[in-house]
Amino acid sequence: MLSKRLIDEMNIQIMHELASAHLYMAMEAYCASLNLDGFANWLKVQTEEERAHARLFFDFINRMNGEVKVYGIDEPHDKYASLLDVFEKGYEHEQFVTSRIYLLADIATEEKNHAAVSFLKWFVDEQVEEESNFLGLIKKLELIGDNTSGLYMLDKELAARVYVPPTITV
Ligand SMILES: [Fe+2]
Repeated sequence: MLSKRLIDEMNIQIMHELASAHLYMAMEAYCASLNLDGFANWLKVQTEEERAHARLFFDFINRMNGEVKVYGIDEPHDKYASLLDVFEKGYEHEQFVTSRIYLLADIATEEKNHAAVSFLKWFVDEQVEEESNFLGLIKKLELIGDNTSGLYMLDKELAARVYVPPTITV
């Protein structure tokens, strides 16, 4: 079972994961408006991943006999100055999500809830990948600068990203 504190924080996490999906969808729309279909595709896949993260918390709370609460989410930030701005904001957002996952992991550890610690371990690892993905794209965009052919090559590369469902089951 889960403590009330863990259930409350995990329910808030469902909201943050859904808010992430919302944010990446707004970013996808921005990239689509620039006709950068590869970037838009990359963010679309990211959106699907975030929904899957929300679902994992939803299922875990249920499985542990807790009560799921679905909160409302705010309108996402949708004004971007450039592609670089998109990925800098995405990176910032992922750092925030990492801090949320660490908070959950800290509570689970403090409460010696090994089932929750084990479940959250997947998210700890996932956040390493998420931050690295965004930072990697920031670095590539900085390298590309004003080079249009570089930008189109990267757009082509990002068009190949496919959604792969999470590797854990709850
Ligand atoms: Fe996530």
